[in-house]
Amino acid sequence: MPGEKTEQRKAEHLKICAKGDLGKITFTNKTTGFEEIDLIPSALPEISKDEVELETEFLGKPLAFPLIVSSMTGGCKEAGEVNNDIASACEELGIGMGVGSMRAMIENPALAYTYKVRDVAPNIFLNGNIGVSQLKGMDLEKLAGALNEVDADALAIHLNPAQEAVQKEGTTDFKGLAKEIERTVKKLSAPVFVKEVGNGISRETARLLVQTGIQAIDVSGAGGTNWVKIDAMRGKNTNAEYLYEWGVPTALAIVEARSVYNQTILASGGIRNGLDIAKALILGADLCSIALPVLRAQADGGKEGVVEYLTRIQGELRTVMFLVGAKNLNELKDKKIVVHGKMREWLKQRGKG
Ligand SMILES: Cc1cc2nc3c(=O)[nH]c(=O)nc-3n(C[C@H](O)[C@H](O)[C@H](O)COP(=O)(O)O)c2cc1C
Repeated sequence: MPGEKTEQRKAEHLKICAKGDLGKITFTNKTTGFEEIDLIPSALPEISKDEVELETEFLGKPLAFPLIVSSMTGGCKEAGEVNNDIASACEELGIGMGVGSMRAMIENPALAYTYKVRDVAPNIFLNGNIGVSQLKGMDLEKLAGALNEVDADALAIHLNPAQEAVQKEGTTDFKGLAKEIERTVKKLSAPVFVKEVGNGISRETARLLVQTGIQAIDVSGAGGTNWVKIDAMRGKNTNAEYLYEWGVPTALAIVEARSVYNQTILASGGIRNGLDIAKALILGADLCSIALPVLRAQADGGKEGVVEYLTRIQGELRTVMFLVGAKNLNELKDKKIVVHGKMREWLKQRGKG
């Protein structure tokens, strides 16, 4: 049956990520870099924590706080339930989400139901998703049709060369793909943004992306979920260990992308609490996205588990903003930081571009 392999891969990914040993699916030594950043505490913030404003927007849709749940799944039976739980949690909280790669539903339209969440989430920001290497020669009418069918507000195109390089069935011909992104932007009526999957966007990549006309970049840096490890393990590729620490740490990817890109930047890859979000925004991001912990919260507690986890993150961001004396996100972005260690060294060597 068309798409059967993709469907099976999606189910395996979900199983490994929802319940697998964290040490096997995240980085061992490389970190996001956020731990090397200090915010400047205010012992007299002169604001009330309850009045801190967290609202923002993404591609025209309001967000109650600066977070979306990253693209994860769709295309297998189990994914339908995961997407529904996450979507209804996002609807309740007033934030957005992405569904995972729509390749499976394009190959086999009978799987479309696993991506459809509008019944439970009529108002949220919702993005569709496709891998950049799928774009080559793709009939974009089909992609537009898939986006329409799930009623997505935007398309996220993911860049994942390291993941593809360790997959047995991976696509490693990335020639001409910037042009393919540009062709997609021109063809679709929905806005398009680009994301990595946990190995990060460098300044040079961001510069290439500027020319494609995309409307946002999610840097998805190193320090969180590690797709090189996951796919090497899944495919029993014992020759991938040398790439286990590959990538631009998330904190640095934000700075690198911001040095050349002046539209919306999302930070993801190991964002795990409200302090990480605050640091990401000060470094130059406009909002953040989180994948793995949301999936695990869903696996443990369904929709309520996701609501509980994301409410905790929202509360943490509010607390940190109170502690630095920021009444709203614009004030937060203007706060000063101190950068230590390896992160400082990277910034010194890479300059401002
Ligand atoms: C189970 C799972 C499936 C994922 N599938 C996709 C996908 O289909 N498309 C995509 O762009 N990213 C996918 N990702 C990557 C995430 O969107 C995100 O970029 C990455 O996991 C880093 O964020 P994290 O450290 O918060 O997990 C997936 C992540 C997880 C955990």
